[in-house]
Amino acid sequence: MANRKYIVGNWKMNGLQSELSDMAAIAQIAAAHSSVDVAICPPLTLVATASAQNPDFSIGTQDCHFNEKGAHTGCISAAMIQQAGASFSILGHSERRADQHETDAEIKAKAEAVHALGLGAIICVGETEAERDAGKAVEVVCGQLAGSFPDHADPSWLTIAYEPVWAIGTGRVPQARDVEEMHAAIREKLKTLMNSGADAVRILYGGSMNGANAAELLAVANVGGGLVGGASLTAEKFGPIIEAAVTS
Ligand code: 13P
Repeated sequence: MANRKYIVGNWKMNGLQSELSDMAAIAQIAAAHSSVDVAICPPLTLVATASAQNPDFSIGTQDCHFNEKGAHTGCISAAMIQQAGASFSILGHSERRADQHETDAEIKAKAEAVHALGLGAIICVGETEAERDAGKAVEVVCGQLAGSFPDHADPSWLTIAYEPVWAIGTGRVPQARDVEEMHAAIREKLKTLMNSGADAVRILYGGSMNGANAAELLAVANVGGGLVGGASLTAEKFGPIIEAAVTS
């Protein structure tokens, strides 16, 4: 598994029923590239229909609450996303850390909640531009990783995504050497956080990945795949990234 690239599309707040045809087209491309693990995280409203329509395709969610049930208006539990057909959730995306003020401790609890039901988790970490300019990128990212790292972590269910905040949706991508430095730092930190299995945890890169830059990014040491926003919305844009993962 560690050697298989993992390409995940995060549709964010995009996608109505009419976009399910894009999901089906992406699932078809994924089926034709069986050496790559591919998944899409649509908005919650599409999860049940998307998973019913594409039973062999991996569908995830973009968040999940840490409690099993209760008075949390607007929130969705791990059991709910599982029943809808999701097999994993993205957790701690920088947009949620910023907009919903999610803390490391909450993200850790969310990861443990999804794992308790046998679901997977992709925990996101990443520095802001100001933090990078201040020379604190590695410190910030490793701090987020340690703070949000779940108990009983294992590569069979846990994935890390490094997404520099300043690269998300901007068309700006870090230099390959900066990606390499950060992914190596994350790998070393994982070794201190896990008794075993740290080498097999996949560390995805995210932030303005597209069909033109995917091959270079995916070839960087310790890059186990990509977490893709805008370029995951259509098969036309996402397909070339999946193809790049085959050859990388
Ligand atoms: P973009 O690919 O649109 O930059 O988004 C990256 C991201 O935030 C994926 O979670």
